[in-house]
Amino acid sequence: MSNTLSIVKCSTEPDLVGMASTLSTCSDSGEESGADFTATPSDSDSGISSVGLSESSGLDLIFLGSERPLVPCNDQPVKIIRDHLDAVRRDDQLDDAFYVADIGEVIRQFDRWSETLPTVYPHYAVKCNPDPLILRALAVMGAGFDCASKAEIAAVLDLGLNVDAPTRIVYANPCKAVSHLRYAASVGVRMMTFDNHDELYKIKRHHDADPQLILRILTDDSHSVCRFGAKFGASLSQVPSLLALAKQLDLPVIGISFHVGSGCGDARAYSDAISAARQAFDIASSMGIEMSLLDIGGGFPGSEVSAKTGVPFDEIAEVIRSSLAKLFPVSSGVKVISEPGRFFVSAAYTLAANVFARRIVPNPAGDDNQRTYMYYVNEGVYSSLNCIYFDHTIVHPKVLLKDGRFCHGAADDPEQKKYGCIIWGPTCDAMDLVKSDAVLPELDIDDWIYFDWMGAYTVAAASTFNGFAKCVVKWTNTEPDRLMI
Ligand SMILES: Cc1ncc(COP(=O)(O)O)c(C=O)c1O
Repeated sequence: MSNTLSIVKCSTEPDLVGMASTLSTCSDSGEESGADFTATPSDSDSGISSVGLSESSGLDLIFLGSERPLVPCNDQPVKIIRDHLDAVRRDDQLDDAFYVADIGEVIRQFDRWSETLPTVYPHYAVKCNPDPLILRALAVMGAGFDCASKAEIAAVLDLGLNVDAPTRIVYANPCKAVSHLRYAASVGVRMMTFDNHDELYKIKRHHDADPQLILRILTDDSHSVCRFGAKFGASLSQVPSLLALAKQLDLPVIGISFHVGSGCGDARAYSDAISAARQAFDIASSMGIEMSLLDIGGGFPGSEVSAKTGVPFDEIAEVIRSSLAKLFPVSSGVKVISEPGRFFVSAAYTLAANVFARRIVPNPAGDDNQRTYMYYVNEGVYSSLNCIYFDHTIVHPKVLLKDGRFCHGAADDPEQKKYGCIIWGPTCDAMDLVKSDAVLPELDIDDWIYFDWMGAYTVAAASTFNGFAKCVVKWTNTEPDRLMI
């Protein structure tokens, strides 16, 4: 049997340089890599089986699938979209909305992180998009995981990583249900965040596997699209009493975390937060508690620039690097981790939706040139476009197929007449409003539209309200030489 084997060479944390520097595929003989490893393929149904982390070589080896890669296709996403629309033309039973997702995008974003913030070890925020393929790819590349619940922890452990998998997880939900906490203890997940006194008592009672606590502090989230400060985070003034109680309960606090809010639009939010974390470290130190971990949370843009203000990821990274160099230099021995979600997955997904109904809205003054349209498309806010409400996403629909012509990526034609339009989702609820102020060329029933940058906080929270099925995801891998998955 010939197995597909992916190899990631990891350097010792916290330095990520070279973490995924050697990446190749080889047969199960292990010949190609020249690596010092031993591995045992398994026939488990998951298609991914555990092999040990070789302490000596620093190699983390994972078998993926036994006969063929899990992503069987290496086509460009646009080809997959076009092929699917051709298939719809032949068979109108296939007219459901669909996603095309490219694991290659996730791989490229991981590389970008490693190059840009090499000393910050990323723990992917599973909540953002828990697709097992994404988890697998990131796991193989060496990422850790931010899990918020029992099911998210189980999803990571189900990947069948090596025995050290629980140490790659930070249970980053400051308020945990007892059953979830007990589960974390039972599977050996030790790192977890907290931000209040009652949580400390709860952890003491229900986590008996040497918990390692991380105190989440409150920082300025006013520049972010999704703000969490009203719900989570201890103020600096609460830090001494929280640390004192932890000490009294004999619970080790190993570090400080913060989250500047999702979709952060101001690089300074990170430098301010890192300064606040430094103060918390100093308070701890004055109480005889020497902490060793800083968790800078998530909030990084999923596209080139922040959706809110246009600040580029590179600028945010530059500010973080310089703050860390000043306040938490590598020589301090403090390990720095993060919890990026949208950064890794936003760009990987494109949504294609069918216009299945329309209504022409005559101009009240009778000017037919000024008519508007209502389009009804087969994906809405009860499904993956829930991001419009929960993630405050402003979507930008573009024409995909019009009059049988494939228009993906076509430049805007200023000569083409456009009309104001409202785009509705498929359910019977008027809340199911995708966009109230779109401006598009005239569309007809059976035309298609598409949305880019749809990987984050979309499919993760989709429902089947009104009997509309969740969208299928058609996967491809445009980085097959980089990582076969
Ligand atoms: C605790 C925590 N960490 C990380 C994230 C991921 O944030 P982002 O997708 O903005 O990187 C979130 C998002 O809700 C979160 O609540």
